Amino acid sequence: TEQKATNVHWHEGEINRPERAKLLGHSGATLWFTGLSGSGKSTVAVALEGVLHDAGVLCYRLDGDNVRLGINKNLGFSADDRAENIRRVGEVSKLFVDAGLVVLSSFISPYRADRDLVRELHESAGLPFIEVHVDCSLDAAEARDPKGLYKKARAGEIKNFTGIDDPYEAPDRPEVHLRTDEQTLEQEVQLILDHLRTHGVLR
Ligand code: PPS
Repeated sequence: TEQKATNVHWHEGEINRPERAKLLGHSGATLWFTGLSGSGKSTVAVALEGVLHDAGVLCYRLDGDNVRLGINKNLGFSADDRAENIRRVGEVSKLFVDAGLVVLSSFISPYRADRDLVRELHESAGLPFIEVHVDCSLDAAEARDPKGLYKKARAGEIKNFTGIDDPYEAPDRPEVHLRTDEQTLEQEVQLILDHLRTHGVLR
């Protein structure tokens, strides 16, 4: 996205990231959950948030349905609107991580380029970005159909529905790859915790 405002300059404060981390007792990271509608992104994020919170980690969840009722209420589901949705929530995630939180962001985020942009936003600022592919066959997601949206999409009542008449580009090399149609929720949470420990995000 082009920089429209001119004559704007970054202003450094007096309290920095390491000082905030010292106050909290941990540093921040974004866990980016990507997958089909109904794959279990929010379910895994909610379960993991509970475990991390109990371990003394300050967490915050960002979720497609929620931010689309607020900050992103002016965006739909065209490729351009999805890109802008992901760009904005990527920037919001980055701010929270800079503040020191562990952010759990659950968005279909179907386009690889949009997710890579969020990764770059984080990595260029020295902030950890952990992509979690919440993988699940379309058949299994459609069988769950928790909100009845697949049924509507099949009936032509929703257009451009991911997996039906809109693409989903799976990650090539996600940091964590879950199979929610084969694993239990406990196993999935454990796989993410293991990753966070072996990579020094958690002690
Ligand atoms: S995206 O692609 O990342 O911008 O989407 P996201 O912000 O995660 O929003 C997905 C939720 O919006 C509902 N919904 C749709 N999803 C996909 N395609 C279409 N056309 C659509 N229309 C509405 C749906 O409830 C998604 O929620 P989840 O939790 O993923 O099922």
